Amino acid sequence: GAPVTANISKIEPGQQMTVEWRGKPVWIVRRTQEMIDNIEKMNDKVLDPDSLEPQQPEYITGIYRASRPEFAVLVGICTHLGCSPQYRPEVEAADLGADWLGGFFCPCHGSKFDLSGRVFKGVPAPLNLEVPPYKYIDDNNLIIG
Ligand code: FES
Repeated sequence: GAPVTANISKIEPGQQMTVEWRGKPVWIVRRTQEMIDNIEKMNDKVLDPDSLEPQQPEYITGIYRASRPEFAVLVGICTHLGCSPQYRPEVEAADLGADWLGGFFCPCHGSKFDLSGRVFKGVPAPLNLEVPPYKYIDDNNLIIG
């Protein structure tokens, strides 16, 4: 599949945009400073905090799993059985867990991911969401693939 260019300049803080790459949805989330701060607070609640399992290109490292912490870029497919998780950026109701600080929720079997796409402990999904290969061409545009 061909690489896809995404213009990220119109994404408001806290908003998500979806682009299609190789027939898959790729989410781009502009994280607010609060969202960025929340990621570190989730380190002991997620299965693979440093994403040691190879679910991202080798140049993507660290807990933010992004070239620029402000923008998360993730393949929007649950690593359990391939459903499409929902973007739930806000703290949710108690049935999603009191430790939930927002992220992605898969309605099929209840897997939860944080705002870095890191899978919570104790849910069916075994791996963090995939980070696709991407790079910035300038401040406002990135190319996926
Ligand atoms: Fe997402 Fe099963 S497919 S939890």
